Amino acid sequence: KSISLNITKAASFLAEGAVKAYEPKVKAAQEALENGTCEGNDFLGWLHLPSSITPEFLNEIQAVANTLRKKCEVVVVAGIGGSYLGARAVIEGLGNSFAWLVNDKKNPTILFAGNNIGEDYLFELTSFLKDKKFGVINISKSGTTTETALAFRLLKKQCEDQRGKEEAKDVIVAVTDAKKGAARTCADKEGYKSFIIPDNVGGRFSVLTPVGLLPIAVAGFDVKQLVAGAAEMEKACGKDVAFEENPAAIYAATRQALYTQAGKKIEIVCNFQPKLHYFAEWWKQLYGESEGKDQKGIFPAACDFTTDLHSMGQWIQEGERSIFETVISVETPNEKLLFPHDDENLDGLNFLEGKRVDEVNKMAELGTRLAHVDGGVPNILVNVPELNAYYLGQLIYFFEKACGISGLLEEVNPFNQPGVEAYKKNMFALLNKPGYEAESKAIQERLAN
Ligand code: PA5
Repeated sequence: KSISLNITKAASFLAEGAVKAYEPKVKAAQEALENGTCEGNDFLGWLHLPSSITPEFLNEIQAVANTLRKKCEVVVVAGIGGSYLGARAVIEGLGNSFAWLVNDKKNPTILFAGNNIGEDYLFELTSFLKDKKFGVINISKSGTTTETALAFRLLKKQCEDQRGKEEAKDVIVAVTDAKKGAARTCADKEGYKSFIIPDNVGGRFSVLTPVGLLPIAVAGFDVKQLVAGAAEMEKACGKDVAFEENPAAIYAATRQALYTQAGKKIEIVCNFQPKLHYFAEWWKQLYGESEGKDQKGIFPAACDFTTDLHSMGQWIQEGERSIFETVISVETPNEKLLFPHDDENLDGLNFLEGKRVDEVNKMAELGTRLAHVDGGVPNILVNVPELNAYYLGQLIYFFEKACGISGLLEEVNPFNQPGVEAYKKNMFALLNKPGYEAESKAIQERLAN
């Protein structure tokens, strides 16, 4: 079994053959990725990453994860953007929806920090950790990202204060660059166990490096299966796979056709499983940072259904017709829950007696897709047999490969993110960071006028 793609309800919004017409361009994009001749070619390490991960490497990740699992009730994963979203997407996708309440003592509770600068958030986190045996995974490729560094400074001190410096060394792990950045300097000086983020893998493509694998393994999920699923998809999306049979090629071509030929400027990734909320957040970053540049790019949005049908549903059904939807549909839930009989039937729901909750969810899903298509919203369907590590691995690689192809079809460099620097420059200038004297002066003058 495998994840699969159905574009019938999107192709009907396009001229006949519009998707197929992309075949030569997709082929060229695939060649450029393989041969490393595209823009951003120093960031193609993700392309054959799944098939190049060795069992020995996964064993090393697992061994470090096991140490953290043994010594910590809580592990805080500090990171932002590509150094955060992949791990959270998988952990929440595979975990119990009430993980932090039903701590079964088998797995440490995973918490996230370094992805915002909310004082209340950090105060509440550090307060919660006061009587906990906690560890920290400090993830930053550059090693200098402010949000992450701030959180790590607080967490490192607290961990050392609570456990003593020596013991803290066993439960603080760094995932960062091999040589440069403050996180590397700190890890080497303090003697922390560390993992390297390869130079040629950009943040948003790094979930299958230790950036994602270590937290996922600490949370108790099967990283071998995750990587095996991704490796399977690497084959299924390979450059020699026929266009019609290559899901990444078809998805990339369909969304570009909808964008350029049908005026669909916004893609909404929808799920009918709340556990996939953070998967959509990961997807948003992947596509937003890869394609939103040179004044171009489909705006990546996400909705959790049916929740958001009661908030965004009106807009989607009848608002400006500039959107299309990509539904991630999970075929079979992991658990089984049947509607019980009620003698009085006060709620009038006895017609559902004996049915699985998912049967109702699936009808909501089909009903929504049909209604939205009738309302002028093209619909792409990504079917996932079940929510497990293997299929999440497939899904991750499928979206990554399609993103690389799609960005090249859009004629941008999908692997840089120059626009992310603008706010940082202003923030550092406003905070009078050493080295930003000229910017500080300029911004103060601008604010004075
Ligand atoms: O995709 C990216 O490159 C970014 O989202 C980064 O992952 C994010 O800014 C965090 O950077 P770093 O890992 O250097 O702390």
